[in-house]
Amino acid sequence: MTEPTPESFRALRIHQDEDVTRSDIETLTLNQLSAGDIVIRVRWSSLNYKDALAATGEGKILRTSPLNGGIDAAGTVIHSNHPGIKIDQAVLVTGYGLSQTHDGGYADYIRVPGEWVIPLPNALDPRSAMILGTAGLTAALALHRLELNGVAPTSGPILVSGASGGVGSIAINLLSDQGYQVIALSGKPDQHGYLKRLGADDVLLRTNMDFSHRPLQKARWAGAIDTAGGAILDWLISTTQPWGCIASIGMAAGTTLNTSVMPFILRGVGLLGITSAGCPTELRHQLWQKLGSEWKPSKLEDIVTNTVTLDTLQPTFRAMLDGKTHGRTLVKIES
Ligand SMILES: NC(=O)c1ccc[n+]([C@@H]2O[C@H](COP(=O)([O-])OP(=O)(O)OC[C@H]3O[C@@H](n4cnc5c(N)ncnc54)[C@H](OP(=O)(O)O)[C@@H]3O)[C@@H](O)[C@H]2O)c1
Repeated sequence: MTEPTPESFRALRIHQDEDVTRSDIETLTLNQLSAGDIVIRVRWSSLNYKDALAATGEGKILRTSPLNGGIDAAGTVIHSNHPGIKIDQAVLVTGYGLSQTHDGGYADYIRVPGEWVIPLPNALDPRSAMILGTAGLTAALALHRLELNGVAPTSGPILVSGASGGVGSIAINLLSDQGYQVIALSGKPDQHGYLKRLGADDVLLRTNMDFSHRPLQKARWAGAIDTAGGAILDWLISTTQPWGCIASIGMAAGTTLNTSVMPFILRGVGLLGITSAGCPTELRHQLWQKLGSEWKPSKLEDIVTNTVTLDTLQPTFRAMLDGKTHGRTLVKIES
């Protein structure tokens, strides 16, 4: 049964000023929320790198302040003026303007434009949808783009960097389930067992490796899903096989790219940009349908390594930026 609309509710609200960013739990009313034609009672959200950057101010993510944090949300519709989205429907929202220009999912309620809302595929409930969240959509978008560009399970090994992180963990499990040979690149020697359980065939310890730049090195990978950027992406470009492709997702190791045209013009290497927040709506629906069916990762429960609430969320931001988390952290929204 539909819940009564609340007088007030709680949210983790971020205030981003010129010099200082702070985030606290605040009490809000529905009419304070960013505009939209759908109101969702949020049940689950998740922690992504962008959430940690936004809440700590380490990245200037908010384009308007204050805003409720959280780029992911899943729950039940309590109000709809949008054709096709019904009251009581289980739905999810990831990316778009959440926690950037629009109040996000670290709140009991969000109000969003109907175009942002994805009905939950049958095989996902709000919790499992948030184990995936932006990390899952991003991993799926990366695999989709690699395959569009000719990468297939028979092509050869696929390297996943930032392997133990949220995107990396889901990418490893997704690739392995689809029959790919997966090589995990990780900085965490204590997580080799975890990465193998998700389906990694081999684990490389990045702290033992030399990523110094040479334009062409021994070609090793048929493809790569790179959440690291920086010197690791330089190295991947120079070690990818002819006609292989790299999906560039993240910047955990840096934002600067120092490469040469040689891998592109001599090996036909492809560098594919991945942006999940701006993923076109139709493709987003297709990818969520796949994530709820033939691409649903088989080890979702192994990938959840922590569950917090609005009250216990704060310390996880710093831990994530310091590289002390692995897998996915779920945020249970309960008042
Ligand atoms: N383009 C998009 O649409 C999109 C969407 C989601 C995320 N992202 C980006 O993707 C990256 C990962 O996001 P996430 O949510 O998965 O974060 P996460 O869970 O914190 O994962 C990041 C992982 O990167 C590795 N790492 C940390 N510091 C590193 C360093 N200095 N050098 C190399 N690797 C390092 C660590 O894994 P190991 O210790 O195993 O190496 C860490 O677990 C972030 O940069 C994020 O902004 C982009």
